[in-house]
Amino acid sequence: MTPLLTVRGLTIRFGGVTALNQVDFAVQPGSITALIGPNGAGKTTVFNCVTGFYRADGGTIRLHAGQQDEEGLNLLTLLGEPVRWRDCWQPQRLAERLYYQMFGGPHLVNRAGVARTFQNIRLFNELTVMENLLVAQHTQVDAALLSGLLRSRRFLAKEEAALQRATEWLRFFALHGEANRLAGELPYGHQRRLEMARALCTNPRLLCLDEPAAGLNPNETRLLSQLILTLRDQFQVTILLIEHDMGMVMEISDHLVVLDHGEVIARGTPEEIQQNPRVLAAYLGTGAG
Ligand SMILES: Nc1ncnc2c1ncn2[C@@H]1O[C@H](COP(=O)(O)OP(=O)(O)OP(=O)(O)O)[C@@H](O)[C@H]1O
Ligand SMILES: [Mg+2]
Repeated sequence: MTPLLTVRGLTIRFGGVTALNQVDFAVQPGSITALIGPNGAGKTTVFNCVTGFYRADGGTIRLHAGQQDEEGLNLLTLLGEPVRWRDCWQPQRLAERLYYQMFGGPHLVNRAGVARTFQNIRLFNELTVMENLLVAQHTQVDAALLSGLLRSRRFLAKEEAALQRATEWLRFFALHGEANRLAGELPYGHQRRLEMARALCTNPRLLCLDEPAAGLNPNETRLLSQLILTLRDQFQVTILLIEHDMGMVMEISDHLVVLDHGEVIARGTPEEIQQNPRVLAAYLGTGAG
């Protein structure tokens, strides 16, 4: 089967530090693929490259989301320059600029079918839950100045669809009773779910979750595992998961990729990874392997 995502030779340096060195891995469509490794291994950096926050120094990141040829779409070629403030007189451009300011430059990657959540939750705390979900959909809603001002039928229909999509995902994440609360007032676990809802509102093929269980209690983690499995099984969303909760990772993942010091040291099923001596050494910090 053609993978949904293929990462080849991904390399990025910060000053003298090589944070990722020739990273290769693939994500099969319809899978839950976990990216694990000790602190500082480079996991979040992989997400930042895949979702367009960082510009890699080398390698390719190909998304095979169906509409492209066999080669897929190289996400690295999508990363144009951010919208300049002086071009922000158009509401759509302004929204893109604000989004860029908050989340980096990923709206084009997002449009191609990739969405993410963040290790440290990033929400617009002063906006309501519903507003957070509507802002996220600006890349889909045609907010051109004229059609917005004229409130054309097409514009209103898209706005209505955005509202409906947001409502459906709020219901899925059991947040529908909180649509009008400020995002910043939600309990921590709810904020984590709201971030996922926001990502899903953009209709991604690939959802990248950066430590979604961090800070959750065991009950919340169990619920989260169920929700992720449902996303895969009933909504055909492919998941790329960074997570330190090994119980959760081993239970729900189809495939694992292990990073250490910016390099892939192992790939395989949960059973294979659990018995891999290099992986054990990396986690125990013995430096062996
Ligand atoms: N913008 C940056 N500037 C400089 N160094 C960076 C930058 N982003 C990441 N790094 C470095 O890259 C390395 C990998 O960091 P990264 O955040 O990807 O690790 P991680 O695997 O996600 O760790 P954790 O499990 O603690 O979240 C670290 O040494 C980090 O300091
Ligand atoms: Mg990280």
